Amino acid sequence: MPPKETQPARPTITVLHGPNLHRLGAREPSIYGTTTLAELDARLADVAGACGISVVCRQSNHEGQLLDWIYEAEARSRGLVINPGAYTHTSLALADALRAVAIPVIEVHLSNLYARDPARHVSHTAAACRGVVMGLGTEGYVLALRYLADELCS
Ligand code: DQA
Repeated sequence: MPPKETQPARPTITVLHGPNLHRLGAREPSIYGTTTLAELDARLADVAGACGISVVCRQSNHEGQLLDWIYEAEARSRGLVINPGAYTHTSLALADALRAVAIPVIEVHLSNLYARDPARHVSHTAAACRGVVMGLGTEGYVLALRYLADELCS
């Protein structure tokens, strides 16, 4: 039997969704839209495939779990897209982890935090990231993913 052709592993980008984002599509649709998390993750997989990369999408409501996944992302992937949800406004621990990892990180928010209540104007995590995309709904994730994919090609 001829030897099997081995495909080089595609570079991977990790996408982390924080608390309450499992309810995307049903949760406050006037703010967050009607796309479900499963639909968003499927779209990100399509975009990644078209860019010649892989994407791993994970959601947790738990800060410690997100911390562990940030470090796992550093070990297993070449970039990270994260929507820390409400932890954006509270979590020094997530900010510290994002600063500690050596891969580029893009923070994404579906809504425009500056058009919302003042408590949401503060992001502890944003300064630990390469950049932030907000207010563009689920398209913000696509833009962040494409940015990281382009960086892998350059
Ligand atoms: C959010 C904004 C946060 O303030 C909020 O707590 C979320 C979602 C966004 O994507 O717009 O859970 O991160």
